[in-house]
Amino acid sequence: MIDLVRPGAAFALLLASASPALAQNDASAPVEVVVDTAKPGSKIDRNIFGQFAEHLGTGIYGGVWVGKDSSIPNVRGIRKDVVAALRAIRVPNVRWPGGCFADEYHWRHGIGAAKDRRISINSNWGGATEPNTFGTDEFMDFVDQVGSEAYISVNIGSGTVAEAAEWLEYMTADPATTAGKERAANGHAAPYKVKYLGIGNESWSCGGAMTADHYADVMKPFARFVRNYNPAQAADSPGAMQRIAVGPGDDNLSYTESVMKAWKAHDWAWSIEGLSLHRYTTGGGWPVTQPSTGFDEGRYALMLKETLGMDETIAKNAAIMDKYDPEKKVGIAVDEWGAWLAPNPGSNPGFLQQQNSMRDAILAALNLNIFARHADRVRLTNIAQMINVLQAMILTDKEKMVLTPTYHIYKMYLPFQDATYVPVRFDAGAYTQGDIKLPRVDAVAVRDTAGKLWLAVTNLDPNRPAKIVARFPGVQARAARGEVLTAPRVDSVNSFEAPNAVVPRPFTGKAGKDGVTLELPGKSVAVVQIDL
Ligand code: AHR
Repeated sequence: MIDLVRPGAAFALLLASASPALAQNDASAPVEVVVDTAKPGSKIDRNIFGQFAEHLGTGIYGGVWVGKDSSIPNVRGIRKDVVAALRAIRVPNVRWPGGCFADEYHWRHGIGAAKDRRISINSNWGGATEPNTFGTDEFMDFVDQVGSEAYISVNIGSGTVAEAAEWLEYMTADPATTAGKERAANGHAAPYKVKYLGIGNESWSCGGAMTADHYADVMKPFARFVRNYNPAQAADSPGAMQRIAVGPGDDNLSYTESVMKAWKAHDWAWSIEGLSLHRYTTGGGWPVTQPSTGFDEGRYALMLKETLGMDETIAKNAAIMDKYDPEKKVGIAVDEWGAWLAPNPGSNPGFLQQQNSMRDAILAALNLNIFARHADRVRLTNIAQMINVLQAMILTDKEKMVLTPTYHIYKMYLPFQDATYVPVRFDAGAYTQGDIKLPRVDAVAVRDTAGKLWLAVTNLDPNRPAKIVARFPGVQARAARGEVLTAPRVDSVNSFEAPNAVVPRPFTGKAGKDGVTLELPGKSVAVVQIDL
């Protein structure tokens, strides 16, 4: 049995230890999950449930913004149905405006009277027309309606320090200043809050193809001069803005080394609080070929195997960070992750539109579990992307909207927001598909902010149910109830025609003197509250 006592020690260890003896294939044998309620771990920052909204395809235009005159119900141009759905999953932060788009975004094009806004070309994403009708004030209105924090990525690729500094001044300065007066004239006298500041995006590639050392030098003046003037966000206060530097993409560790080395040598004049990490699951690299519908079990297993590598990617980066920052002052921000699949047939390939299946829901749950185990270092993540792009929460088509299986995982995991990690031990067993061997089950436990105990269990095996026996040494479990998400097939999806094909159902466990028994269907994720 593997001891998952410490967040961050977890899944790689578990996989490495899946010896033939443990890798039993007896589907009827119960999986024992021992929950150690006496040893609480790190706090799971609710910001690991963040979203990413780039000016890309119909992620913003159509997905969020329909305009004030639209027949689609809206508040000041922002879709009501989408806001209601996002409020229901308590989105903690939204990263905007990119992505690659951010390093070509000039904020002044997106403020003031709509008729005067510059119309440009979105050269990164399909050469679409960018009307700039959704700009800073509209984004801030959107996050306010959703109840989220703003994560603003500033342009360091084709912009200047002065441009980024003036943008922050526009958003956060006192109404008596010139910048504040301009904001007030555009409808918002009070300073906005900017909780997170991204200093560039993928500067090793679309953000300017900089070497790691060069980026570290470019980043410092932004960290120094791009100031937040909102008095509610004074430096060193609990609400202070967190600056996030560009870090690694996949397993290229050079940015982690250079940026953390630079950070260790920083003086009073600048600092960062976060290091970005991007890792997509493609099922075989680039260009992407994995379809989002109509795939077989082999492709299902391939994607899950690759996604589980997130654990090792975080562990490798965390080890480098530990060298320079043993006190863990700088957090990892996995601010782009998720399944990146082949575009829907017939769609503009530059719009990155894909369907979202039961497989993607399991993929999301496995990653959220990994982030929870690394909660000592991972403080924020943004799944890519929120609406209509890549592994989306929500799909829209004009007035229609559908919630994806991934959305339902985010809803089921709500008790994990700001919860405390609780260590679990279990034999993961094995699910084998061709030459791919995966753990058969995964499990994490937390205490929510009200002190209630929750257990999330995933059965990766699509064909066989898993009987879980959860034990709580020293305490008697009285009941277990929650929800389970499963579907007829791994590639089952929700569509506009059949929006409820993959939705959570009520789920209960049987409490006995030895703990709680949960009968998980194949290909499922269950989240249950344990009454002790
Ligand atoms: O999410 C789509 C793109 O993926 C982002 O714009 C970029 O940062 C990454 O390469």
